[in-house]
Amino acid sequence: MTPSKTPRRPTAPRQRAAGRQDWSTWPHYDAAASGFKGYWYPVVWSNRVTGKPSAFTLCGERVVLIRDAGTAYALHDRCPHRGVPLSYGKQEFPGTLSCPYHGWTFGLADGVLSAVITDGPDSPICGKVSVRTYPVAERLGMVWVYVPIADEEPHPIDEQLPEELVGNAFMLGARMEPRVGNWRLACENGYDEGHAKYLHRTALWRLFKAMPTWNTTRIERKGRWIFRVQEEQYWEADFPGLGVWTNKRWWKLRPPARGASNIGNTGASGGVDPVIAEQEFPGFASVSMPGVLRIAYPNFIHYEFYVPVDADNHQYVGVMVNFRKGLGPLVFSVKYLAWIRWLFHGQFSGQDAWMVEATHCPPERLYRPDVSLTSWRSLAEGDYRDKLAALGLAEEDTK
Ligand code: FES
Ligand SMILES: [Fe+2]
Repeated sequence: MTPSKTPRRPTAPRQRAAGRQDWSTWPHYDAAASGFKGYWYPVVWSNRVTGKPSAFTLCGERVVLIRDAGTAYALHDRCPHRGVPLSYGKQEFPGTLSCPYHGWTFGLADGVLSAVITDGPDSPICGKVSVRTYPVAERLGMVWVYVPIADEEPHPIDEQLPEELVGNAFMLGARMEPRVGNWRLACENGYDEGHAKYLHRTALWRLFKAMPTWNTTRIERKGRWIFRVQEEQYWEADFPGLGVWTNKRWWKLRPPARGASNIGNTGASGGVDPVIAEQEFPGFASVSMPGVLRIAYPNFIHYEFYVPVDADNHQYVGVMVNFRKGLGPLVFSVKYLAWIRWLFHGQFSGQDAWMVEATHCPPERLYRPDVSLTSWRSLAEGDYRDKLAALGLAEEDTK
């Protein structure tokens, strides 16, 4: 008898006909549906992590968070005994977390089984079983968790944060919310060159500020980031046989040609915050691994962190930062709570959430402004490849 072969499911043909329509150019990016491991991600507000355990799914892995003696810890949220979530449990002894079912008790720092309440103090299984622990850091008032690719040590979180957020004092306003859709679609939407001028034309945030109808763009890499540099801006356009289309309205201000759109070009003069000016950003929108968007305005910077939960969900973390001194931070806080939070992190960002949920690709058929998307994918692909090489990891270690 010949061994039976496992029937193979036919794979759907990937469409490559007229222009590339799949993501096979970027194989690591294509495979990172549940996120890139090997990075720090902001998962929850610091003040929400207490002695009562809470759960979060990050890069497809269930994590339990708990605070003990001021330090936040993260462990795999699964008791190795019978698979009950440890986040259902409680802290019975300092420095530990106990499973609610049979009382297996794990050390928070090392994840090692240190006691089994229902098997007595001499339980022979103690020390022989452990749960995985994850590196934890706290920045920007949030708890950040690192999910290792293999068993590597994490890089310092400050090497991953936007450079200007390390070593400068600032005031921040932020919003964190679970959203439907893959994290890559959210990140691509954030860095997408084409949509803001059209999708957001109805946003209240832009009520008094006109946006061009279209513009030309080039992408420039600087350090870990790629920048969108808007070159020629066209405030209205005559579409042959169709007519004129413009975002201009009599009540809308038109920003200066080289103002907020390419903030790095404004230098230290022209009312740009000195901390922002000294960064010399080539363009106002930039993105870096593992999915961090930075939009620089003259007096504040807006960041978006797209935290991968699983293949179908992500967490949106929008952060607005003001570096001004004196009364500046106070004024910024009042403005943030009074209207920025609602108009920008609310309604404006809600339009993005709507589109991310509605996007279904690949397949896709890209157009000229999508150089922003392909450049971001190339950055992610290259940086991740370099990271694997630097860690001495082979491709199979990433599976
Ligand atoms: S399932 Fe956790 S102690 Fe039994
Ligand atoms: Fe948008």
